[in-house]
Amino acid sequence: MTPPPYAGRPSDLVGRQIAGYRVESEIGHGGMAVVYKAWDLRLDRRVALKLLAPELARNDTFRRRFTHESRVAAAIDHPHIVPVFEAGEADGVLYIAMMFVDGRDLRRQLDREGPLPIEDATRIAAQVASALDAAHDHGLVHRDVKPGNILIAPGIDSDHPEHVYLTDFGLTKRSLSLTGFTTVGQFVGTIDYMAPEQISGKPVDGRCDVYSLACVVHETLMGRSPFERDDDIAVLWAHQNEEPPPLTGQRPDLTPAVGGVLAKALAKSPDDRYDSCRAFVAALRAAALPTPRQPDVPEPPLWARPVFARDQHT
Ligand SMILES: Nc1ncnc2c1ncn2[C@@H]1O[C@H](COP(=O)(O)OP(=O)(O)OP(=O)(O)O)[C@@H](O)[C@H]1O
Ligand SMILES: [Mg+2]
Repeated sequence: MTPPPYAGRPSDLVGRQIAGYRVESEIGHGGMAVVYKAWDLRLDRRVALKLLAPELARNDTFRRRFTHESRVAAAIDHPHIVPVFEAGEADGVLYIAMMFVDGRDLRRQLDREGPLPIEDATRIAAQVASALDAAHDHGLVHRDVKPGNILIAPGIDSDHPEHVYLTDFGLTKRSLSLTGFTTVGQFVGTIDYMAPEQISGKPVDGRCDVYSLACVVHETLMGRSPFERDDDIAVLWAHQNEEPPPLTGQRPDLTPAVGGVLAKALAKSPDDRYDSCRAFVAALRAAALPTPRQPDVPEPPLWARPVFARDQHT
């Protein structure tokens, strides 16, 4: 009898075949899934194969939601959304086969190189924003916008130095608490980007993604998310009750107007935020002053900066 795919360590799967895909190597893992580089044996092409932790498949509500949301996400054809090729279940494991993005995620980018100039931050945010607004037009709220779900690949020219993809629609671990999967009051995963209305369990719409995107932009500019604290309870409290920190420091590109735009996008009430991600990014762009560049030392494009190893994600 063939052992179930998750019988051993994730590396045990390398070389094995799952649902028509040959697993080649592990790309990384988050809290509830492992992502592999894999080969689609039917269509002869490389894919990223995401295998969800087996306990998720045992939760009926999560499965239904997974099936529904992966269908909706697969139906959105958008240049900044990672195309989903197939989602299903094999040997009791839920999987998603999607386009393999040869690049790095924004989490790794920030960890390795620190904050970005506002032009870079705005360009990345604009691409994520157009993906999110398209999803909202399809009635889909992402709910887990964070640097780890923003993938950055090489762009086509110096005007478009990187191409950004958003991934992981509907796969938020927080949704598990709504499905009764976790015990009451137990939060799983990062809460650094979570909108106040998500924390209090109110219904959410696209404006919760505006808030999370603003947290990401804040971190991209300042090197830390706006409500980073020592413990989770303090983070949750800060999202709901505290003002975001001002943009301070030696950065001439971070004008008070930029701080004002972020403060509006981070408003506690969705009604006080921008009503679309694009509107938020347009305001950001208008508020930003061009940063003086050294003419003799051109900045390498993001993707050309030091090469990263696709080692395990922690
Ligand atoms: N389509 C893809 N192409 C290339 N790499 C990918 C793709 N999708 C995900 N990855 C990478 O796989 C790794 C694991 O992703 P995963 O979504 O499991 O974790 P995460 O988003 O970091 O954390 P979380 O579990 O909190 O969502 C990340 O490093 C991510 O950059
Ligand atoms: Mg992810």
